[in-house]
Amino acid sequence: MNNPLQLSLVNFKKASYIIVEGKQKADYFFILRGGNVRISKELEVVEEEGGNLLAPGDFFGVVSTMSSHSHIETAQAVSDVSLISVHRDQFGLLIEKNAPVAMKIIQQFSKKMRYLDEALTRITLKSAASDDPSHLFKVAEYYARQSQYNQAFYAYHQYVKNVPGGENVQLARERIAKIQPYAKAVYLEVDNENFTRTYPKDNMIFSESQPGQELYIIQKGAVKITKIVNDNEVLLALLKPGDIFGEMSILEDKPRSASAIAYEDSVLLAVNKVNFSRMVSTQPQIITRLTQLLSERIWFIYKQLANTQLTNPLGRLYDALLIQLEKVRVPMNPGESYTFDFGPKELINLVGLTKSEGNAILHKLFENTKVKIADNKIHVTDVQEIEKQAGYFRKMEKIEKARKQGTMKAAT
Ligand code: CMP
Repeated sequence: MNNPLQLSLVNFKKASYIIVEGKQKADYFFILRGGNVRISKELEVVEEEGGNLLAPGDFFGVVSTMSSHSHIETAQAVSDVSLISVHRDQFGLLIEKNAPVAMKIIQQFSKKMRYLDEALTRITLKSAASDDPSHLFKVAEYYARQSQYNQAFYAYHQYVKNVPGGENVQLARERIAKIQPYAKAVYLEVDNENFTRTYPKDNMIFSESQPGQELYIIQKGAVKITKIVNDNEVLLALLKPGDIFGEMSILEDKPRSASAIAYEDSVLLAVNKVNFSRMVSTQPQIITRLTQLLSERIWFIYKQLANTQLTNPLGRLYDALLIQLEKVRVPMNPGESYTFDFGPKELINLVGLTKSEGNAILHKLFENTKVKIADNKIHVTDVQEIEKQAGYFRKMEKIEKARKQGTMKAAT
């Protein structure tokens, strides 16, 4: 059989731009063979782990290429460089031929996801993430207070099991005895015999802060990914059939970064570590799908983080609307109208403004005659207007930043 994987080698001269942030049509990503490449972002939100200078063996452009979104970084050649370019459609073949590269990519992505998640929690909710298993007790207490006994029961059980010497173990035992008659938990433990699992609605699949041994592929139903932050349940994502979750613990040997709860009656396929390693060679399409999902999540969370760095609140509203349009891939045709699936209140929450700040700024947003409310949902009569406004504010931020840097330079 001849090798259908056709990778191209490309060379770039020192100082040339290989990819540019914001540019659409990211079809290829790159693996560096020789030379160095510098990665930069318009808004440096969080320090990149491992620095911004790439060396041979490193890769870039994967997030935007595999999620089919615009580039979220700029890559410039620091020396003459030689690269391998990989088309999105060839990712599956790359895994088959070179499983270690694929594993390196998803492992790095998982790490990236974790610190972007943490940064977003820190910035928007002003709270630190907790790796500590005693956090399980807080999760249980939260759900008990909400009378969501299935979830509470599961989390108390995990707390007692994973922190047997914990200061609240006695209390947790008492709570378990009390709520047991009202609680259902189908799988309190991992079932190593049966990999197809059925979870009735409102059952916890796993809790944040517990150890993880499996990842899951949703076959039927819907699963919500949540976190308890400052005694509130924060919804990170609502997942649907075909989606994969629970991979971060497996890839990094860390506790669960969030809880997974059946949002509807759901059927899941569980994959343990051993089966996962096998899948890399036997089912490359699943690894490709996992890479796509991780890329989409990273793209989205990076955009949300960049949004928090914009200083003008009206600019933030336009930018948040543009992110949503890009996320659901609305074509940016002139005169194309679109109704968002949320209203003004949710938009304010989305960008983390307080109610009073928000109301003042919403007023300004609706001065734009192309932005309206229909059935309590935000409606735009021309999607290009959102792109134009968001672009305008971004440009103003850049000018302002340059001006400040200029004044600072002049002052020193
Ligand atoms: P893991 O940490 O094992 O358990 C929680 C899972 O939730 C995690 O793996 C990811 O699969 C998923 N997850 C974490 N953060 C997010 C996010 N921001 N958006 C979507 N899914 C997430």
